[in-house]
Amino acid sequence: MSFTRWKEDLIELGRLGRKSSARIETYGQLDPEKGLYRLEGTEEMRRSKEYMIGRMKEAGLSVRIDRVGNIFGRREGSKAKKGAVMSGSHLDSVLNGGMFDGPLGVISALEAVRIMKDERFENERPIEVVIFMGEEGSAFKKILLGSHILVGKMPVEEAWQLKNREGLTLKDALDRGGLRGDFEMDLGDVEYFIEMHVEQGPILDQEKIPIGIVENITGLTWVYATLEGEENHAGTTPMFSRKDALVAAAEIILFANKRAKEMAREFRGSTVATVGRMSVLPGAPNIVPGRVEMGIDIRDGVEENMKNLREEILGRIRGLEEEYGIKSTIEIPFLHPPRPCSRAVVVTIAKAVQEMSLKVRRMNSGAGHDAQNIAEKVKTGMIFVPSIRGISHSPLEWTNWEDIERGIGVLTRALKDLSNLVPSPAFGG
Ligand code: GLV
Ligand code: MN
Ligand code: MN
Repeated sequence: MSFTRWKEDLIELGRLGRKSSARIETYGQLDPEKGLYRLEGTEEMRRSKEYMIGRMKEAGLSVRIDRVGNIFGRREGSKAKKGAVMSGSHLDSVLNGGMFDGPLGVISALEAVRIMKDERFENERPIEVVIFMGEEGSAFKKILLGSHILVGKMPVEEAWQLKNREGLTLKDALDRGGLRGDFEMDLGDVEYFIEMHVEQGPILDQEKIPIGIVENITGLTWVYATLEGEENHAGTTPMFSRKDALVAAAEIILFANKRAKEMAREFRGSTVATVGRMSVLPGAPNIVPGRVEMGIDIRDGVEENMKNLREEILGRIRGLEEEYGIKSTIEIPFLHPPRPCSRAVVVTIAKAVQEMSLKVRRMNSGAGHDAQNIAEKVKTGMIFVPSIRGISHSPLEWTNWEDIERGIGVLTRALKDLSNLVPSPAFGG
């Protein structure tokens, strides 16, 4: 197989943070036991960002890092100083994650700029390649973190105090990696943003369509619930006088699953609810579980549905006290509302796809993306490429190289177009 530079970049990034450090070049080499653990604050992440900063500088970009570790690489524009076109994604992974979720959007944006450089393309607007910090929430427990701070929804000083599972603050983690800068990106100087990403669902793969254009990005919210029962001897505590926190947690898991299914059916919508994290304490077969900590993810393309489901789940958790004698504490680390994409950007991507004579599908995103934060301030769009069997947030995540190549072609055309586009009131600006 002959390697082009973007493929080599993705393969190299796919090695950093994988316990085996294996180079994965084909689908057949994937190993379900050997995913990525590339979390913010780790040495692997530092090396990944060092690698990317090197590539960005090689491409002639001027690299700046903001106070929470978002990285920006700028290619100047020939006419405008403001109204930049931004593109990129994130480098952090979920626990045991795949190699495309995030890096694909970063490398594709970089490749688009390298192509412009090779072709001596004259972009009137500046182009910014962006790497958002902490998208997955796997280290600092809040997803879309870097973009959340960038749009001004959390003060930098507050974000610095967030702690990871080892108790390390974000500030210390950034300092440790040399990734705390002083640049202040003003999104008022950015006109358009495109994030290219793997679909992470099965539609494009099933329908054999190479490109998806996103129209709406899901809303999502998390609930951290701690259930306190009574730890006791599993052999001597009678069944009718227990306060088993895990049995109570099981009620919540089943309730969330059942109600999400009912709502998805009722509204023919995208309602989903998942209990994806649970710690059972103290955690031994011969002890009635005294404490359970659970993390619940709730999503819907309609904000009201998402909030209603969350209220129902919270109500069910509160009801555990009467039913099981279980006390609970609740934390809601965030709610990101659903966001529509900008018509101007959607149309520009559609035009690029048409010029390349590719099949395309308009769709919604069930995954959360930094794009939905950026969309609050900047005209934003997303390009999807197929995920084999719709698998993602898994070491088995895969996208065929040919599909990535097509996606880079579409992204490059769209960025070129936007870089010379005068905003039109007909597209809502
Ligand atoms: C982000 O990847 C999310 O959708 O959880
Ligand atoms: Mn993800
Ligand atoms: Mn992602």
